[in-house]
Amino acid sequence: ARLAILLSGRGSNMLAVVRATQTGVLRELAEVVVVFSNKPDAPGLEAAGALGCPTAALPSQGRKRAEFDAEAAALLQQYRPDFVVLAGYMRILSPAFIQPFAGRILNIHPADTHQHQGLHAYEWAFDNRLPATKITVHLVDEGLDTGPILAQQAVDLRGADTLAEVERRGLAVEHELYARALADLIKTGP
Ligand code: GRF
Repeated sequence: ARLAILLSGRGSNMLAVVRATQTGVLRELAEVVVVFSNKPDAPGLEAAGALGCPTAALPSQGRKRAEFDAEAAALLQQYRPDFVVLAGYMRILSPAFIQPFAGRILNIHPADTHQHQGLHAYEWAFDNRLPATKITVHLVDEGLDTGPILAQQAVDLRGADTLAEVERRGLAVEHELYARALADLIKTGP
């Protein structure tokens, strides 16, 4: 399957998915055909380039959402992705973006999307001293973290006494779960 990965920042999930296509659970199942960012200076974009992935950027700053999304979707369609993989892509998608890829856009959220939506999910878990949280991979619809859940995995947070430790444990699970959820989806079809 052809994957387009979208990011706005660091790109650690992008890295995990790319590695999985090279030497992990996505080997012989998927290839990353483009890493795209709405932030031309996103560190993740540079990291993707260094890994040999094709990259593309379109600045979203100052643009009207529907216009930007239509342009971004048109750009991505040139790469003919089977799946659009959101990996820290800090935008809510408008119908102009979702429609061409409906049912084929995935996101990873660092909490149970039934309990927490939007930003700062690790802070939420830490501030509430949750003994565990749940990483969620889900299909994207027009809501904020509302689409059908594809996979979830619990993170044990007992004894995690700093936010950094909560994030470290969570991200380790994210990196594993995203590639595995993609592999399962590709095997069963969209
Ligand atoms: C991750 O925690 C992901 O779950 C959330 O945004 C963060 C992105 O981190 N949607 P990275 O850019 O993949 O390192």
